[in-house]
Amino acid sequence: MEIGFQVTHSRRVHAVLAYLNGQYLPRSAAMVPVDDRGFVFGDGVYEVWRVVSGRLFETERHLQRLRYGLNEIRIAAPDIACGDVLARVAGRLLRESGLAEGEATFYLEITRGAAPRTHNFPPASTKPTVFATVNRFNPADDLRRTGARVITVPDVRWMRCDIKSVQLLPNVLAKQQAAEAGAVDALMIRDGMITESSHANVLAVLDGAIRTHPANNLILRGITRQIVLEIAREIGVAVHEHAFSERDLPRLEELFLVGTTTDVTPVVRVDDAAIGSGAPGPIAKRLFTELRARIDAACSARLESDFAPAPA
Ligand code: PDD
Repeated sequence: MEIGFQVTHSRRVHAVLAYLNGQYLPRSAAMVPVDDRGFVFGDGVYEVWRVVSGRLFETERHLQRLRYGLNEIRIAAPDIACGDVLARVAGRLLRESGLAEGEATFYLEITRGAAPRTHNFPPASTKPTVFATVNRFNPADDLRRTGARVITVPDVRWMRCDIKSVQLLPNVLAKQQAAEAGAVDALMIRDGMITESSHANVLAVLDGAIRTHPANNLILRGITRQIVLEIAREIGVAVHEHAFSERDLPRLEELFLVGTTTDVTPVVRVDDAAIGSGAPGPIAKRLFTELRARIDAACSARLESDFAPAPA
């Protein structure tokens, strides 16, 4: 059944749908119990996919990271962690929410499930909670053209930032501090080194080569980071997965944020200091163009089996 209603003869308005434990519901009707360990402990992981024309970008790499996170926190991977089940759920949510065209994101969260509160794991029979939804997405094209200003904050997170946990309080506080300072994001600094931002990885250009924090336990292994580094190598830009420090900032030629909802966003000011020329640099521009081409190419051939056209 399609959840939606006709407002005029020509325009259909869709309620955004959620998938919760096997059911498709209007998002406002999707509820988890107060005993859910995601709610009580932040005991779960999540993923965010970019969607263009109803197709998920890099389905399998995100799924691999999801399965890695589930394994690290010892939640048995539910069926949705398989590509075909995921494609079916995402396809239906996108189609029935009116998001099978244009840009969107697909969000998936898996928690250890609902059980009376004890810090140790609940009984083995406790079923993980599986929640997914979709959202319209508007790429920040203006920001990409002007470049962003960011602030710096201490990286106060735990030592397992490689797990895409729903515990995002330090990220939330960092991003709020940026917003209150009129900035776009916050770069996090641990022991003098730039790790990543509140919701993106951070790449710099120094002496003509890309520098970025190695993909260890101190950052999320961003899928966009992986792709952008592949592109950089392909176009002949040297890549060094070595962290750069706060003290390197005045010497940087370019600085940019990369992520699923960030694409490649040039940073032109950190706190009150200009980066490089103070305008978006050529390497960031080129990497964005190539990334965008990859997204468009990967998402242009629609899989009709998964994403049949919405009923008129
Ligand atoms: N954030 N680092 C952090 C801390 C992130 O939260 C994200 C993604 C990234 C970039 O990873 P990827 O390229 O795989 O999206 C790096 C998502 C988009 C979010 O929390 O909404």
